[in-house]
Amino acid sequence: MSERAEDDIELPAALSSMRRFALDDALLLFDRRTGLTALCDGPETLGLRMRAPRAVQFAITNACNLACTFCSRDATAASGWSADEAFALLRDLDERGTLEVAFGGGEPLAFKGFSALVRRLSEETSLAVSLTTNGALLTDAMAGALAPFVGQIRVSVYDDVDHRPALSRLAARRVRHGVNWLVTPERLASVEAFVLDLAGRGCRDVLLLSYNGRDPAMHLSGAESEALAGRVRALSRALGGRMTVKLDVCWGERMEAVPQLFEARACPAGREFVVVTSDRRVSPCSFHHRSFPFADADELLRVWREQREALATPAEQPGCARSPGFGLGGLLRPLTLLR
Ligand SMILES: C[S@@+](CC[C@H](N)C(=O)[O-])C[C@H]1O[C@@H](n2cnc3c(N)ncnc32)[C@H](O)[C@@H]1O
Repeated sequence: MSERAEDDIELPAALSSMRRFALDDALLLFDRRTGLTALCDGPETLGLRMRAPRAVQFAITNACNLACTFCSRDATAASGWSADEAFALLRDLDERGTLEVAFGGGEPLAFKGFSALVRRLSEETSLAVSLTTNGALLTDAMAGALAPFVGQIRVSVYDDVDHRPALSRLAARRVRHGVNWLVTPERLASVEAFVLDLAGRGCRDVLLLSYNGRDPAMHLSGAESEALAGRVRALSRALGGRMTVKLDVCWGERMEAVPQLFEARACPAGREFVVVTSDRRVSPCSFHHRSFPFADADELLRVWREQREALATPAEQPGCARSPGFGLGGLLRPLTLLR
């Protein structure tokens, strides 16, 4: 079948103002203001081909105001981006079809000139701009500077930072926001209390992260993963749509008991999204050992096209959903090995 162009597809009037993004044999529609996403697939979309990653996760700096022991990042990596260089790369990716940039790091709010960069991206490109922050540097002034220009802010909740002021500031400015929380064996028993407390604070979105890394005490056993799936299912029912409880993609089939929004798909890292590292390389995800240097958007896209196989390999870190048994063989106690 010959390649088709996404602009040739006729859409109902209600959807026609949404930005179009070609997937392989499907069309994604996206509204950066609301985050609304629609997936169209049928005979009309056959022949469409993805020409750029849908989203870029951008480690704008490797500097961080915290020193979490479990953090997945390589704390020795350089911070090689200026705001102008980051803008130029993202503007060019936007022109080639990418829909979203999600800043992380490091701590994005520790990057000098961060709010000006977000504003410029919002005003001069069509990208949806989001960020993940530990919230400690999210002052009133910073929240006010970001609010008009950002699509979404995710606040990672850690034991040593009070997340409540950041959440109140975002809620007060009506910034779309959500919480990221790493679920460890120790935290399993408090999942409901944690999520319900967030719901009471007006938070409408929580993402439960699975640990990637070499500390056996942080990984859930098979039985604990099953227990988490049951708890999430019951919680979602109890919340009745007042709040979205999401599970990150690294849980993989460990969470198959939880109803899925879409059919179970292969891990999208390296294909639907890529990570741009603080030292100017491109990698499938922030837990992956493979990365490739690039100079500009064209070279990044060349890596994305030509290194497709390398970008689809499992990460070496235990916890990767692409690895047999999530790479946990030998790491967990024999009696709690995953099925
Ligand atoms: C590395 S942080 C960078 C952005 C920002 N400094 C923050 O704390 O949100 C991005 C996300 O990765 C998560 N994370 C860090 N280390 C992890 C690990 N080893 N396994 C899984 N998620 C991890 C954090 O909880 C956070 O939500």
